[in-house]
Amino acid sequence: MAVIFPRWSNWIIPIIFGVVGPMVTVGAVGALWYWGSPEFTDVGYAPDQPVPYSHKLHAGELGIDCRYCHNTVEQGAAAAIPPTATCMNCHKAVKTDSEILEPVRQAFETGEPIAWKRVHLLPDYAYFDHSVHVAATIGCATCHGRVDQMKTVKQEEPLSMSWCLDCHRNPAPNMRPHSELTNMAWTAADSPDFDPHAKARFPTPPEHCSGCHR
Ligand code: HEC
Ligand code: HEC
Ligand code: HEC
Ligand code: HEC
Ligand code: HEC
Repeated sequence: MAVIFPRWSNWIIPIIFGVVGPMVTVGAVGALWYWGSPEFTDVGYAPDQPVPYSHKLHAGELGIDCRYCHNTVEQGAAAAIPPTATCMNCHKAVKTDSEILEPVRQAFETGEPIAWKRVHLLPDYAYFDHSVHVAATIGCATCHGRVDQMKTVKQEEPLSMSWCLDCHRNPAPNMRPHSELTNMAWTAADSPDFDPHAKARFPTPPEHCSGCHR
């Protein structure tokens, strides 16, 4: 035993069988059963939505801030998809006879939510929280691309483990002034005086397994 397995195997084996093993199994079975379906092959996924709601028009041309609709993104793990009432704040008065807005008016009357199709989706065994990332001044565009130019939302980044870790190992280049969080066009050249290292509490993102697999 001692010859075949050196001393470090005392802890590495439990880790392999206790953590990696089950996860690989879950991953492999999950991959075949669920993630293998073409809907979730990640980058480029842009499903047609029940209403052709355009971020290019609303967030881009009309300049509505992301947080007007995704209003839990700074407080919660998930960024809320807005209820139909948020749309009707405007569409009670704007384009009231538009045919493509008929499902929106109907959803508002019946109270039955619009069945938006999910675009970005991590497997259950990976933990992600928006509020922490937004508080660490990572902008929406860093992880979601130029949503303000998308007629239909498309996944731009792989959301893979190595993608998460690439940033966790060196987050500073991805941080920006707090005021620019939802500015989709921001680049580092726009804020030459901003120094992420000068922040009072420099964030330390987890690289250990249980940080993201809890
Ligand atoms: C007027 C409301 C509104 C505004 C403003 C808005 N969104 Fe959205 N957003 C929605 C709705 C509704 C959906 C679901 C339908 C869809 O995917 O297009 C959505 C979906 C998304 C998704 C995909 C969610 C998923 O299923 O993975 C992302 C990412 C997103 N929005 C980011 C943004 C960003 C970034 C901004 C600011 C630049 C923004 N949104 C501004 C209403 C809004
Ligand atoms: C550090 C990367 C990162 C940043 C920054 C980020 N997101 Fe996300 N977003 C994700 C990931 C990863 C998911 C998928 C989460 C899941 O499946 O649990 C997601 C999912 C979403 C969704 C779908 C609902 C949900 O929460 O799962 C919306 C809407 C969204 N993001 C909007 C935004 C907006 C608006 C901002 C900026 C204020 C933003 N995101 C910033 C990575 C990010
Ligand atoms: C702050 C006001 C505002 C909010 C909130 C808003 N919209 Fe709009 N929407 C507009 C305006 C303005 C137009 C463009 C009207 C025009 O083309 O003259 C528009 C256009 C549209 C159109 C195109 C209609 C057509 O016939 O061309 C759709 C579809 C739409 N919005 C869906 C939505 C949905 C779904 C929501 C909620 C997630 C939403 N909007 C929230 C202001 C808003
Ligand atoms: C562009 C940079 C960036 C990307 C991409 C990113 N993160 Fe992070 N993450 C951070 C930073 C910065 C922190 C530290 C926040 C703090 O300590 O205040 C963090 C913290 C965390 C934490 C610890 C805080 C908490 O919620 O308990 C978890 C978990 C996490 N990230 C998961 C993920 C996952 C999963 C992904 C990929 C889907 C991801 N992150 C992608 C920058 C990033
Ligand atoms: C920063 C967050 C983060 C950390 C830290 C992290 N993971 Fe992951 N891991 C993820 C995400 C996100 C996924 C899902 C990737 C996907 O859907 O493509 C994942 C997927 C996996 C999978 C499934 C792979 C597959 O192909 O389905 C295994 C196994 C795994 N991680 C093991 C580990 C181990 C072991 C560690 C520690 C050495 C670790 N992870 C650390 C975020 C993380």
